[in-house]
Amino acid sequence: MDGSGRALSPGANALLQDALEGLSQRQKRLSPKWLYDQRGSALFEEITGLPEYYLTRTEAAILTEYAAELAGLVPEGGALVEFGSGASVKTRTLLDAGDHFAAYVPIDISANFLHQTAHGLRAHYPRLEIAPVVADFTAPVRLPPHLDAMAKVGFFPGSTIGNLPPEAATDLLRHARRWPGAQGFILGADLVKDEATLVAAYDDAQGVTAQFIGNILHRLNAELGADFDTGAFAYRATWNAALARIDMELVSTRAQTVSLPGARIDFAAGEAIHVSASRKYTEQTLAQLVVPAGWRVEQLLTDEDRAFAVAVLLPQ
Ligand code: AVJ
Repeated sequence: MDGSGRALSPGANALLQDALEGLSQRQKRLSPKWLYDQRGSALFEEITGLPEYYLTRTEAAILTEYAAELAGLVPEGGALVEFGSGASVKTRTLLDAGDHFAAYVPIDISANFLHQTAHGLRAHYPRLEIAPVVADFTAPVRLPPHLDAMAKVGFFPGSTIGNLPPEAATDLLRHARRWPGAQGFILGADLVKDEATLVAAYDDAQGVTAQFIGNILHRLNAELGADFDTGAFAYRATWNAALARIDMELVSTRAQTVSLPGARIDFAAGEAIHVSASRKYTEQTLAQLVVPAGWRVEQLLTDEDRAFAVAVLLPQ
């Protein structure tokens, strides 16, 4: 039941369970996977176009420059399998260069969005099989069995891997290594750089990122009937050099108590909810992630400032 006694949908119930769990920890947290409702997805789109958010445009330039080479990793008649495909915008660069692909498998948590995207891709690439899979890739993803005989190359762009703790990132890569026909993996990863550049990318002058992260509280209010005073939480982005990650938090500006269905949560003044971490890599830490999963970094494609990397992984 929500705050006004209505029954919650299964989706809202998953959000509630996760929120109750996360907000009852000593270090309060919410999962970044809840950031991407319709408003959140639109805000993230806006972030990708901000001057401070160098990631998207830098990766796009690398993918464009090396499109033929990257598409060539997929053998004739093989499949490209993408994690967290969203609108599959980046993928089009590879699909355009990959006339020889037999199938494209976009994996995304948002069923509506995924099927809309699949529909658009079918119209644009009529000879390519589009085989969408609705799944949360933080758990092992089962691919359609009729693709078992096909060679496969994984594609995980955007540095979304940086949202995952190192063990979970390695698990995802290990799982993809075990797909029948696994041949390679194309991984987009943001690189460690100076603190000012990193913090600016996650705390932009226009405050779009602050809205994006703060949206999670609006969602808890709208979908669960929680009563967060969203104006009493301030956004903060900090660089944790020891863990090589940006932490995105919402800080309670005063002592307050918030009600959710089934719980009252106390906040001290200055207490933070951790919402998202964005890990940044070096050549070495990237290798530490992929090697235990059965891959090796065959190539590290970067821009001239070495801001972002597209790693080409091959089986060891
Ligand atoms: C989509 C996870 C790659 O961490 O850079 C951007 C999410 N959060 N600004 C990132 C995000 C705030 C983004 N990823």
